[in-house]
Amino acid sequence: MNVEQLEARLEQLSEEAVALLAQAGEREEAIQVKNRYLGRSGSVAELMGVLRELPNEHKRQAGQASNRCKKAIEGAFENTMASLAQQELERRMREETVDVTLPGRVTSIHLGHPLRQVENELIDIFSDLGFEVAEGPEIETDFFNFEALNFPPDHPARDMQDTFKLTDDRLLRTHTSPVQVRTMHAYDVPIRIISPGRVYRCDSDITHSPVFHQVEGLLIDRDVSFADLKGTLTAFAERCFGPGTNIRLRPSYFPFTEPSAEVDIECMFCSGDGCRVCSHTGWLEVLGAGMVDPNVFAASGIDADEYTGFAFGLGVERIAMLKQGVSDIRRFFENDLRFLEQF
Ligand code: FA5
Repeated sequence: MNVEQLEARLEQLSEEAVALLAQAGEREEAIQVKNRYLGRSGSVAELMGVLRELPNEHKRQAGQASNRCKKAIEGAFENTMASLAQQELERRMREETVDVTLPGRVTSIHLGHPLRQVENELIDIFSDLGFEVAEGPEIETDFFNFEALNFPPDHPARDMQDTFKLTDDRLLRTHTSPVQVRTMHAYDVPIRIISPGRVYRCDSDITHSPVFHQVEGLLIDRDVSFADLKGTLTAFAERCFGPGTNIRLRPSYFPFTEPSAEVDIECMFCSGDGCRVCSHTGWLEVLGAGMVDPNVFAASGIDADEYTGFAFGLGVERIAMLKQGVSDIRRFFENDLRFLEQF
């Protein structure tokens, strides 16, 4: 091959490559075309193998022709890559545009589970009355759940609270009253605490759940009387359900209080006329209460001659049912969003 033929062949290669690059629709394709012509074993390098055989006076001319060919292909390659990048940018701008005129998505503001809302409200009410929050474990010992609260072993009062036992000594607490004992053991009198928390009993119908919540209250000081208990509970009922809310105290029995009372609030579903929810009594039982039994003081080393106190334990679900007009306690635990979103 002489130098003119070499020049012509290089010209032909560059035209071919430029035409192919102009048609390339993707970056990969353009890179492949470039490598096919300009790569180390590409068509141009292969052709330049003949350079060695050319007479010296033609080598310079051949070298210049090869450079022209390479430059033409490289230039076409750069143009193709730039135009593909531009096309890609335009495509993304088209596809990824944000339509600022579209209406936004409505996000719901979570105020918490309805039971949590009521529990927080109860904490606020009693905090305003000067009570501090204390907490205790949900897995309790027989001592704190029963014995220190004056339930001797085998006492029939234990049957009032159907217990989930874990071992002979450990159980899921059946009420929040063990926190009373733990507080009396840990702190000096005077004491004024409430203890909100989850409790467990083998019990289930429209007003009873196997897992439910109580808020315990305990106040110990000199000269505390039953009138203070009644005044505190009346203040609570008026703040929780509105001025003029009727409460009713019925004599009752708890081993850890003497005297004891069951406290009812007028049924909001029937305004006291009687309905399915209040078992046609007009009242809904929401809490148990009483004056701390001297035996409980003795078990905790408090001098019953010097101090007196009252305690109460209210059911959060019952309060929530009354406040939120829910007639079946099980709704709170079914996690049905249609129900939960109403609160
Ligand atoms: C007690 O649990 C006592 N510890 C309360 C107490 C504390 C009395 C301090 C005296 C001094 P009782 O078993 O009555 O008492 O339960 C208290 C409240 O919990 C009830 O009035 C009721 O509102 C609620 N309750 C009881 N069992 C259930 C249940 N299975 N599901 C939902 N709420 C319940």
